[in-house]
Formats: sequence, C-alpha cells, structure tokens
Amino acid sequence: MWKEAIETAMETVKRNAIQHPGLFPHISNELRYEWGQNNDWIDGFYTGMMWLSYEYSGQEFFKQTASEQLHAFEHRLENHIALDHHDIGFLYSLSAVAEWKITGNVEARQLALRAADKLVSRFREGFGAIQAWGMEDDPENGGRIIIDCLMNLPLLYWAHLETGNSSYYDIAEKHAQKSLRFLIRGDGSSYHTFYFDRLQGNALRGGTHQGFQDGSTWSRGQSWGVYGFALSYRYTKNEIYLDTAKRMARFFIDHLPEDHVSYWDFDDVVEQGTPRDSSATAITACGILELLELMPEDDSDRDYLRAALLRMMESLVDNYSTRNIENAEGLIQHGSYHVRGGQAPDNYMIWGDYYYLEALVRMDKGIKGYW
Ligand code: GLY
Repeated sequence: MWKEAIETAMETVKRNAIQHPGLFPHISNELRYEWGQNNDWIDGFYTGMMWLSYEYSGQEFFKQTASEQLHAFEHRLENHIALDHHDIGFLYSLSAVAEWKITGNVEARQLALRAADKLVSRFREGFGAIQAWGMEDDPENGGRIIIDCLMNLPLLYWAHLETGNSSYYDIAEKHAQKSLRFLIRGDGSSYHTFYFDRLQGNALRGGTHQGFQDGSTWSRGQSWGVYGFALSYRYTKNEIYLDTAKRMARFFIDHLPEDHVSYWDFDDVVEQGTPRDSSATAITACGILELLELMPEDDSDRDYLRAALLRMMESLVDNYSTRNIENAEGLIQHGSYHVRGGQAPDNYMIWGDYYYLEALVRMDKGIKGYW
C-alpha cells in the first residue's frame, strides 16, 4: 500500500517539475497550485520532495531538479528576499542541508551555515527566544514567539554539529525551553503564539494567529509541537522534550475524529463543512515516526503511538490522497492554511504534501528527511 502511494506521489512531483520549470508551488486555488518565485516561507518543501524522491528512487531527474533549485535559495539569502521571519529553517534544512547531506556539495553546506546565522540574528536577548515575524521593534510582533518555530531549530542544532560553535545550540535550546514553558499547557494542548514584553521579557499572554481563538488548539500548531519537540530531543537528549512531544501527540490523537484526520482546530464546533487540516495529520505522523525511533524499546506508549500512526496514514492514503485523481497537482486534499483569515480553507498545501511523502518514505524505506 505504501509503495503504490509513493510511486503515484513521485509521478506527481515529477509531472509538476516538468510542467512548471523554475517555479515553486505555493498553496492551491481551486485545486491547482499557484506557481511562483522562491519568496514565501514554504518553498523548501518542494525541494525537499525532490530530495525524498531522489533518495527513494535514485532517479537523477529529482537530484538535478533539486540542485537547480538551490540557486534560488542562494539568491534569496544573498538578497534577503522575504526573510524577515523565523522560517529560515524550513527553507534551508530541506534545500541546502539536504543537498549537503546527500551529495556533499560544499557550497550547499556554506549556504546552510549562512542561513543559520540569519536565523540566529532573530534571537532576542530581551525575552530569550527567536522572534517569529517582522522587525525587532514591530509593535505587534516584536515580542512574539510561535510554536511553528520549533521546526526551525534543527538548522541551528545541525550548524552546531557542523562547526562546533555552541552558540547555535544554546539559542536553539533557549528557544525550545521558552516554548515549552509558555506555549504548552498542562493537558498537552498548545497556544499557537505567545507575547512577551520585548525589552523586559515579562510574559504577557498566549494567543493565536491562524487558530479558532486565542485559547484554542490549532491543529497544525499542535503538530509542529509534536515533531518539533521530538527533534529537540533528538539533538539534546533532554528527556523533557521527549515527554512533551509524547504528551502533545496524545492530545492530538485523542482528539481525532472517526476518520483519524484532524479538523483545523480542536476547539471549533464540528458540523457539516468544518474544514479539516490534512497537513496537520501528516506532520504529526512524521513526529510519531521520530518518536518511535527515539523512544526506549520498552516504552509503554510505543504500541499506542504505532497504532495511531497506522490509522492516520491509512486514512490519508485511502481518503485524502490524490492517487486516483488524474493529473492532480497536489498529493493530499483538504488541507487548510488560514481558515479564520479566509485563506485556502480547503486546498492543497505544499507542506502537507511534503510531510505525507516524508512519512511514507520513512515507513517504507527508513528515509528520514533532513531535519
Ligand atoms: N508555519 C505557518 C503555518 O503553519 O501556516
């Protein structure tokens, strides 16, 4: 079942690259992707899919396409194009780090290290974490962290391992600790964002940007936490991250509907037409795969997590994938980007496609991705 899903997914990735040379897919509109330049937070996912497909199939086409795309990431970093945000890890882990790990291209390694430096420049001493969005003195976002940023920390952990410079590690760790303390609630649910006084560092309040309301649990934020804390555990071996990722995974799983694919926010009323976010379920599946690899063999949560993973992935393949839709551009249907903001509430999300493929190739061949 996984093999067939992967084969059809790779055909789609290849067809897209042939039909839209030099362009990157953003989110879809009426189930066709909007294709554009490398200028959004999401462009790394497409390149990451090329690398996953290359590692899975060995087809040169994917390697060549991914390597060609690296130039756009280089141009973007050198010219600071749309980079006043924390998503530098999403962008450069899946492009430059991936290329370095797979091919040993030294230029890709240098690019990834420069990207890590740019991410470091967003660390704010005032509140001891990485600022998510905007400029340092931004009145709304100047003291704001968001849960998504946990997925950007592996770029810093990787840079520490490459260079031996501990400041990368220290900043990642400080950010993970701050996120754990202020974004995660006692029942394992999460805030999307948290505000601090940007100069004094006082904690102000939790809130949301893309979720249903300030105190709700936005399902994709929850999934960023599951995978993000699992990855912080991979690099630090601090047990509290393992425990947090497991608690967050349990909350996610225990709040899934009958078909095992999450709605967009765990606190919205479920009625006819309530949007799903299939991407959140794909991300959580990857987080669970990471947990299963890192957890002790005798961990009592192992069977529970493995069973949930299989249910989620089977449902994504059977009920959400486009494997039986001719010429579809996306891999999984019914993702949502920003429901409250009216942006792509039921569409393809390129990151949903990426994590769906990452989970599949990891389950089938143990290919782990590039975090
Ligand atoms: N990181 C932005 C999002 O998940 O929509």
